[in-house]
Amino acid sequence: MKKQRIFSGIQPSGNLTLGNYLGALRNWVALQEEYECIYSIVDMHAITVRQNPQELRERSLLTMALYLAAGLDPQENIVFIQSHVPEHAQLGWILGCNSYMGELSRMTQYKDKSSRMGDSIPTGLFNYPVLMAADILLYNAHLVPVGEDQTQHLELTRDIAVRFNNAYGETFVIPKGYFNPFGARIYDLQTPEKIMSKSSQNQQGILFLLDDEKTLKRKISRSVTDSLGTISYNDHQPGVKNLLNIFALLRELSIEESLAYFEGKGYKQLKDGVTEAVLDSLLPLQKKVNELMDNRSYLEDLMLHGAQRARALAKVTLADVEEKIGFIPRRTDEYRD
Ligand code: TYM
Repeated sequence: MKKQRIFSGIQPSGNLTLGNYLGALRNWVALQEEYECIYSIVDMHAITVRQNPQELRERSLLTMALYLAAGLDPQENIVFIQSHVPEHAQLGWILGCNSYMGELSRMTQYKDKSSRMGDSIPTGLFNYPVLMAADILLYNAHLVPVGEDQTQHLELTRDIAVRFNNAYGETFVIPKGYFNPFGARIYDLQTPEKIMSKSSQNQQGILFLLDDEKTLKRKISRSVTDSLGTISYNDHQPGVKNLLNIFALLRELSIEESLAYFEGKGYKQLKDGVTEAVLDSLLPLQKKVNELMDNRSYLEDLMLHGAQRARALAKVTLADVEEKIGFIPRRTDEYRD
């Protein structure tokens, strides 16, 4: 039986966090056997907020290294840089002509980000979810493993796909989200009501995958808990709940097993337990990232290979879409690279 297809991506817009790892990357690794997977480093999404060019290049490469270090097999999966496959932008334009101002204005991520930008809101930020829809629909992905913060964008993708299919005939697979029930939302260690995000102002509550050992220890030991002093799993103790989630996910235990592990213990021991679990996972990951970053030509070869494979698939969908909407087919030999 033909495997179902997966697409997902992470923006190289900042350093990757434990939220990106537990909410997305680690699940991708788990899914790579069962599905045909396409994972992208979505640099075109990153530029919806102004980036330093040199840093963007470096972070894109680092993100590639992190994908591999986390266990993604670049032969089994297609791993590529979004801007290397121009069909994303091309389909993005067409889908933009099939999406509405109203639905895009309702995106909470857009409202959040634009609220801090005064009068200078880039239109790319507004159109961002259309490009995300293009990423997914270009490959006719069945499943999109993401954290819960992406739910609304996925709904919009489905709406656009259904609309297009209704107008032009069956074209796109209607994709579904895939969420890990506990990892789908990792919260900030300082403000545990807020999701841990690479773009937050205060970095003290964010565990970056490449933070050094001392920094990780400090951030976890200073994480906000509460004055109740008991380790239990409920919404009145968001800080403790978040630490338990992190512990359970990293140690691959259930919440019950984690609660049993900390039974009769205090917050200091909880934080020590989380610290150990974080270091046990991240230090080996960091070692692999460093080794890969020392071998840039290997990473660059993989990028080229990944983009060629992604493009071969993307071209087929784009050609189908262009034909359906009435463009004259391009003479492909003139455009072959
Ligand atoms: P981005 O780069 O913000 O985040 C990458 C992935 O990490 C997840 N995530 C989290 N999960 C749990 N807890 C957290 N604290 C946390 N923070 C981030 C996100 O849900 C995401 O899965 N728009 C996307 C990138 C994208 C994309 C796509 C994803 C572009 N095109 C197509 C899937 C398919 C984004 O900004 O993710």
